Amino acid sequence: MPRIVFRSPLQEFAVEVPDGTTILEAAERCGAQVGHSCGGVCACSTCHVWVKKGLESLPEQDDLELDRLDQAFDVKAISRLACQAKVSGEDLDVWITEESLKAFMDENPDVRKALEAEGKWPPPKFA
Ligand code: FES
Repeated sequence: MPRIVFRSPLQEFAVEVPDGTTILEAAERCGAQVGHSCGGVCACSTCHVWVKKGLESLPEQDDLELDRLDQAFDVKAISRLACQAKVSGEDLDVWITEESLKAFMDENPDVRKALEAEGKWPPPKFA
């Protein structure tokens, strides 16, 4: 099964998932902090991630994903919406964008408060 590694300034998690699993589903399985304000129906851009390894293995973006990514911040050639991109046979190295990490904290204020109490939120700037 493909191995997905999630990275952010706060954490690094890895999980193995079967083909056809979305990157967002993989994140939820391992506790990676990927925002998903619309619940994974391609109606926001809070699940925006950068796929730094394995990008070519993912199915092409459809028009809806491209339209949503137009609304995202700091979009790069390696940008994908985690709820739309399905794992397809290759390992992935996924970076959680600042936009997505902030959205996750907005969705999970208890997690943010705990990190603030530990002096870990907000994190250092993304490289
Ligand atoms: S969770 Fe909203 S577009 Fe992916």
